[in-house]
Amino acid sequence: MEITKDIIYVGVNDHDVDLFEGQYVVENGMAYNSYVIKDEKIAVMDTVDAHFTDEWLGNVAAALGDRKPDYLVVQHMEPDHSANIMNFMKVYPDTKIVATAAAFKMMKQFFGTDFPEAKIAVKEGDTLNLGNHVLTFVMAPMVHWPEVMVTYDSTDKVLFSADGFGKFGALDVEEEDWACEARRYYIGIVGKFGAQVQALLKKAAALDIQIICPLHGPILTENLGYYINLYDIWSSYRTESEGVLICYTSVYGNTKQAALELAAALEAKGCPKVVVNDLARADMAECVEDAFRYGKIVLATTTYNGDIFPFMKEFINHLTERNFQNKTIGLIENGTWAATAARIMKKMLEGSKNITWAENTVTVMSALNDASRAKIQALAEELAQQ
Ligand code: FEO
Repeated sequence: MEITKDIIYVGVNDHDVDLFEGQYVVENGMAYNSYVIKDEKIAVMDTVDAHFTDEWLGNVAAALGDRKPDYLVVQHMEPDHSANIMNFMKVYPDTKIVATAAAFKMMKQFFGTDFPEAKIAVKEGDTLNLGNHVLTFVMAPMVHWPEVMVTYDSTDKVLFSADGFGKFGALDVEEEDWACEARRYYIGIVGKFGAQVQALLKKAAALDIQIICPLHGPILTENLGYYINLYDIWSSYRTESEGVLICYTSVYGNTKQAALELAAALEAKGCPKVVVNDLARADMAECVEDAFRYGKIVLATTTYNGDIFPFMKEFINHLTERNFQNKTIGLIENGTWAATAARIMKKMLEGSKNITWAENTVTVMSALNDASRAKIQALAEELAQQ
């Protein structure tokens, strides 16, 4: 696939991966993107996952024709992109490897060598002249590992964005809504590193970018402001969508009933969007994504082993380790003899910045009654008014 006259797509689609990065369900598979820039000199941009060595080397060979590559640019050392560096160097031993010093250190750890004969270590603003194309390297530490850099081709105005602007999903499935799976990918994988993404966006703003070539997901060629704006919202932890997210766990259905009655009350009061997730059954990454997307969250769970129910505990841990902030949060607790879940949830979130706690906390003692139903209505009123 030609992206521009000189840039050829040589990536692969993975429909066999059971859990991407060991935890993410990817119903539509995953793409590991790689590119060849053909000029007087030839650069190959990143490798692919270990399961696709032959397919990828075949794609590269087809793109090269009767020529040999001069450079392998390694932007990121996570194995979904770096696993084939050694295999590539066996086939093309005269290639120079261009990467950050931190990436070479990781090569030594992964492969037992940092390829001293081939090594070209680059830093912020260094350039690589291919003839017509000049590549400029822009450091992007912690987007998503410390060694990451992105690459700007000023000739075709292409940003090779590493994991940035990536999404779940292979490229040979029917085009799905980009934002849905890009948001789940971003929040899950890069969500903690908003400050670093903001720093990269500031640097990118100074470049004239017409095409974004990420390491996952489709090549972005139109309406780039839409994608950049979403990245700006996500990385600054701002509310993307108006509405209320209710996440619950329920053992015998009573806490679920409280969550559903709150949802109905919010809808009756004209709340623009109410999303209800059962944390034991929904995709956890989808729930985490929703928590960052909406500005108002209600957490509903039970006392359990003197703590809170495991799926809620896991959920809150996912939030806090990703720098969860800037939210209004309401709480529903259920405990037959010790209703302490609200206090425990609040404690777990005490390090999160800029949290507004709803004044009305709903306490259910075993099952809903008139008093707890009145509290649900009060919480709905409070959230609807904000
Ligand atoms: Fe797609 Fe952070 O690797």
